[in-house]
Amino acid sequence: MTDAFLPFAAPDIGPEEIAEVVSSLQSGWLSTGPKVQRFEQDFAAYTGARHAIAVSSCTAALHIALAALGTGPGDEVIVPTMTFCATANVVVHLGARPILVDVDKHGLLSTESLAAAITPRTRAIVPVHYAGQACDLDSILKLAARHGIPVVEDAAHAVGARYQNLPIGCFGTATAFSFYATKNMTTGEGGMITTQDDALAARMRLLALHGMSQDAWRRYQQAGSWFYEVTAAGYKNNMTDLQAALGIHQLRKLDQFILRRRRLADAYTQSLTGLPFVTTPVELPGRYHAYHLYPLWMDFPRLGLTRDEFISQLRKAGIGTSVHFIPLHYHPYYQRTFGYTQGQFPVADHLYAGLISLPIYPRMTDAERDKVIHVVAGMVTRCRPTVAAGRTT
Ligand SMILES: Cc1ncc(COP(=O)(O)O)c(C=O)c1O
Repeated sequence: MTDAFLPFAAPDIGPEEIAEVVSSLQSGWLSTGPKVQRFEQDFAAYTGARHAIAVSSCTAALHIALAALGTGPGDEVIVPTMTFCATANVVVHLGARPILVDVDKHGLLSTESLAAAITPRTRAIVPVHYAGQACDLDSILKLAARHGIPVVEDAAHAVGARYQNLPIGCFGTATAFSFYATKNMTTGEGGMITTQDDALAARMRLLALHGMSQDAWRRYQQAGSWFYEVTAAGYKNNMTDLQAALGIHQLRKLDQFILRRRRLADAYTQSLTGLPFVTTPVELPGRYHAYHLYPLWMDFPRLGLTRDEFISQLRKAGIGTSVHFIPLHYHPYYQRTFGYTQGQFPVADHLYAGLISLPIYPRMTDAERDKVIHVVAGMVTRCRPTVAAGRTT
């Protein structure tokens, strides 16, 4: 067992990534260039998508995808409330209205809530593959197709996840990935958009870099031309070669990273399932869970302590944790601007009351994993030593 503080998340950067970044620094080309191109090709091959467009974050990916689909004032975009604020903030940036809906008990977009929220103003649906597990894409895509509505998947947690044995990234109208420092693979900050649609890809690529017809790498190559045209008021959301240098090597390690995450998750599940008032996450049929997160659900009132107390005791024991997520309808901006209120989405409300995410990442050792299990199980048992073991939800 180690005594050092175990952070909630940490990246796994090897000598290959470091050497590639150094070679980019030495090459004299730091911004969008040959390494971004290579990373995009590798990522498209990995996901089975026709197009992959590297951008500065998943937030930018969602923003660009929705912008390219023409989202604007008067439109509605359906977003599950159990997500990070970026999923809905970008809808607001485009002048449209985020329509929050409830999730199922696994934290995934509920198809029933989705169906009930569709209106003639719905411009897009944004399912979130919460914690690294794919939503019920069959029914979501079927419903969306019936109404002619594009689906932009928020796969910030789901690079490396699979649905019906196919990689996330080849299903929806567009899929947005995150390479933020804590994600399944990282470029420090960064993101990717995949799509099978040629015209949409061209539009998204244009919007990611000022709306210019030609990027700098193409213009400054020997055969390049200085001329470009601005055909849309685009954004400055391109990825740099320094980021892609990391991404190329992280992508090669991704399947190993996910395997390690899955092994850690299996160990947590085996050891913590059956503890009183604790519910462990479940891998649903047809899914290959990437376990970006390991969210436990705990019945804190019945355990006789608050979540804050539990988290602070874990911190004292040297273990970092987090909560995913504070649902969007709890945030003052969304309440004030759109009238959402706490208690409005019963499943998300119930989940939020008991969620706590345990550390899970490839660099964690077996000893660190066992320490988390030992401390969590010990605390739960001490809370109510007389209560019979059993699942509560
Ligand atoms: C569900 C979800 N969507 C989007 C994002 C935004 O990702 P990024 O930080 O790459 O912009 C995050 C970030 O944590 C997220 O958890």
